[in-house]
Amino acid sequence: MCANREDVDEANTLQALLRAATIQLGSAGVPPARVDAQLLVAHVMGISRSELQRLAVLGDTCLNATQQAQLAELVWQRSQRVPLQHLTGVAPFRRLQLRVGPGVFVPRPETELLAGWGIERLESAASRLATHVVDLCAGSGAIALALATEFPGAQVSAVEREPEALVWLRRNVADRRPSAGFRVEVVAADATAADTLAELNGTVDLVLSNPPYLSPDEEVTKEGLLDPPSALWADDTGLSVIEAVAARAAVLLRSDGWFGVEHGENQGDRVRALLHSDTWRHVETHLDLAGRDRFTTAQRL
Ligand SMILES: C[S@@+](CC[C@H](N)C(=O)[O-])C[C@H]1O[C@@H](n2cnc3c(N)ncnc32)[C@H](O)[C@@H]1O
Repeated sequence: MCANREDVDEANTLQALLRAATIQLGSAGVPPARVDAQLLVAHVMGISRSELQRLAVLGDTCLNATQQAQLAELVWQRSQRVPLQHLTGVAPFRRLQLRVGPGVFVPRPETELLAGWGIERLESAASRLATHVVDLCAGSGAIALALATEFPGAQVSAVEREPEALVWLRRNVADRRPSAGFRVEVVAADATAADTLAELNGTVDLVLSNPPYLSPDEEVTKEGLLDPPSALWADDTGLSVIEAVAARAAVLLRSDGWFGVEHGENQGDRVRALLHSDTWRHVETHLDLAGRDRFTTAQRL
């Protein structure tokens, strides 16, 4: 609430600050400028975006001097294309708010589809008992944590190799540890190595993975370039880690277990070709909301 209507400097009202932030971000080419402006103002005020929208309609809210200074700094950083999620410190993923920052891949909305497919697979299984899920290349833990929280009771192993990403993964797991039925084990290892989780070979119900799959000729947004290189780039074809992860999944899965892997929009046919019919059946590529190839799934023979 503005302290005193007569004293209000119009430039400090919520609406004016939102407008100015939107213009500044828009002229820096930040897409979508208005949403990012709202999220940054909401972050500074410690409220949700919907609460911010409500206050903006009411029209009698001002930001204090500290909040204004903080907002100015954040809007400037965002206009330099620092990822929004690095500024707010969180990334939404399905029902979760995950902690993210430099050193870890920022989870993308399209990956929610792969996690959702995995959850549906578990829900349609005959038995909920002793379900074991493995997330290969876990990053912040987006897929692993979505599975563990939306399908309580499942034992989830989250495999990540990079020390910096592991710090964020462990934080996100620790945030949720007290909840009932939450069982996530962090495994610091190479997801493609034969000895990683070898004790589970032939027993796992579901393996999901969003590995690095870009080839060097792919274009990446300025924000994307601040993701760790090890999260983005594979070999010249972009398929090397996908192929290695698929090979590892084939060994980990029990017969009839399921595998789902995210990939680039031009990789669907080549990923299907990697999943040979002597090992896999029901090989299918799924589209994202924009109608692009996004992930491929298969059942272990
Ligand atoms: C595209 S990010 C995905 C992270 C997370 N699954 C998500 O969807 O937000 C890929 C992750 O795989 C990790 N990674 C790359 N190669 C790996 C390997 N051989 N073993 C384990 N992790 C690996 C990277 O460090 C990065 O965290």
